[in-house]
Amino acid sequence: MRAAVVYESMFGNTATVASSVANALRRTGMEVRLIPVALAGADVLCTHDLVVIGAPTHALGMSRPSTRADAVLRGAPAEVEARGIREWLDELEDAELVRIAVFDTRARAMRHLPGSAAKHAAHLLRRRGYDVAPAVSFYVGGLEGPLAHDEEARAG
Ligand SMILES: Cc1cc2nc3c(=O)[nH]c(=O)nc-3n(C[C@H](O)[C@H](O)[C@H](O)COP(=O)(O)O)c2cc1C
Repeated sequence: MRAAVVYESMFGNTATVASSVANALRRTGMEVRLIPVALAGADVLCTHDLVVIGAPTHALGMSRPSTRADAVLRGAPAEVEARGIREWLDELEDAELVRIAVFDTRARAMRHLPGSAAKHAAHLLRRRGYDVAPAVSFYVGGLEGPLAHDEEARAG
């Protein structure tokens, strides 16, 4: 079984969760590619049996160019600003048999707010007919992280 974990990450927290998920899948014997969204092609759904998608929650949903620019002003590296999961979803080629799971990271202090990048991505994918597992959120301290205690292990 071939799996891909595609992630967007401005400050590294979503990347850490994605890596933990990928390692856990490898331990089950799957062949797993861990792909930053900047390098993710339009054919990922067509070429894998399982695709896990991870994104940081920005402004109650998936990031936009403006929220990524804001993250860069807060210290995120400029090279991750160009492309997010939202833009990648827009480009994706359709596939029939793929199974999809979604997660996000978000600020623990904002957990009372409804928005979630993973729920947003799941909604867009379900509208296209995909069967998507329930969205999962992992929490960070402050706006930039670090990941809250035990979240990396929970991701595994
Ligand atoms: C511009 C911006 C907007 C954000 N908006 C939200 C939000 O609406 N809800 C939330 O829970 N966290 C919000 N956050 C916190 C991010 O979710 C947090 O930076 C992210 O989980 C860190 O993941 P990363 O290190 O992979 O970028 C925001 C952060 C930024 C920079």
